[in-house]
Amino acid sequence: MIEYENLSKLNKPFFNSFNQEFEIFLNKGWFILGENVQQFEINFAKYNQSNYFVGVANGLDALTISLKIFDFEIGSEVIVPSNTYIATILAIINSGLKPILVEPDINTYNIDPLLIEDAITDKTVAILVVHLYGKCCEMDKIIEIAKLHNLKIVEDCAQSHGAMYNNQKSGTFGDMGAFSFYPTKNLGALGDAGGISTNNELFYNKAKKIRNYGSEKKYYNEIIGVNSRLDEIQAVFLNIKLKFLDEITAHKRSLAKLYIKYLKEDYIKPQVKENQFDVYHIFNIRHPKRDLLKKYLFDNNIITEIHYPVTPSDQNAFKNTNYFNNLHFPISKLIHDTTLSLPISYIHSENDILKVIEIMNKF
Ligand SMILES: Cc1ncc(COP(=O)(O)O)c(C=O)c1O
Repeated sequence: MIEYENLSKLNKPFFNSFNQEFEIFLNKGWFILGENVQQFEINFAKYNQSNYFVGVANGLDALTISLKIFDFEIGSEVIVPSNTYIATILAIINSGLKPILVEPDINTYNIDPLLIEDAITDKTVAILVVHLYGKCCEMDKIIEIAKLHNLKIVEDCAQSHGAMYNNQKSGTFGDMGAFSFYPTKNLGALGDAGGISTNNELFYNKAKKIRNYGSEKKYYNEIIGVNSRLDEIQAVFLNIKLKFLDEITAHKRSLAKLYIKYLKEDYIKPQVKENQFDVYHIFNIRHPKRDLLKKYLFDNNIITEIHYPVTPSDQNAFKNTNYFNNLHFPISKLIHDTTLSLPISYIHSENDILKVIEIMNKF
């Protein structure tokens, strides 16, 4: 069987290091905001070529805290792609703001910069871009629009660790970059974890306070915060795995190349552009008979996933709300109805992928 992913196998190469470091961690007995978190923040900022990085509890909190930094007026509008994972939308709603959904470009699956300006009103305060599947958005156009309309930019980098646009890393274009280290991500912890990148010292200091009850000095609370600290133990694991992130990315990119080269043209494959360095958190193709294809692959012992089966605006969670009243998102719907995510991970060999291709080309 060719699995979609296997977290035990994925982490096996690190077992020895994990065990060694865990023993040290346990003996030390410092479990919250200690030197492991501090070290990871330094390491990830360096990796990501951003001035600052703040570890938080998960990707959703990274997005929510990034929005809280600005103290936007309640009810202000934030532009966000209509085909993102639900977390991006929830971060906006949970911050008392209003998500304004904008359709993606059908070729990149990222927010269509040409549609952003039409969605701007006098209540718009920010654009929350999502570098979906590990491909950066067209940031030069988005930055131009944001400057023109005086809007903040927050980047959802949950799927784009190390992805680049014009040789610049995701999470360094906007005011804030929000990362998830959920176990399946290209850099994954052994539980929930996340973090925020920024080049702005004020935002950095504020994010550090917000994640820790609004406090810098114990028992003195200067702003209204939350408890969203990156666990020391997750920072231990992340420090070990970060050293291998480029190797993991290179492996995934080499597997993606095989799919792109050898999959028959019936499949709509991800766009490849010279100024984009894609990290393929997800490798998706599109096909009009997606459900049939998924079953055919399953019958041939190949496990696939769908990212995502339902558009955020069609989720039951929003049924009795007026966030997306009578709005239709046909491009998102088309993507959600036809997309299929193929196996692509550090545990897969080139032979695995060639096998998937061979079977897919007979469909
Ligand atoms: C695009 C996107 N945004 C945000 C998140 C939220 O991350 P987390 O699950 O760590 O809260 C995820 C991950 O699941 C994601 O894929």
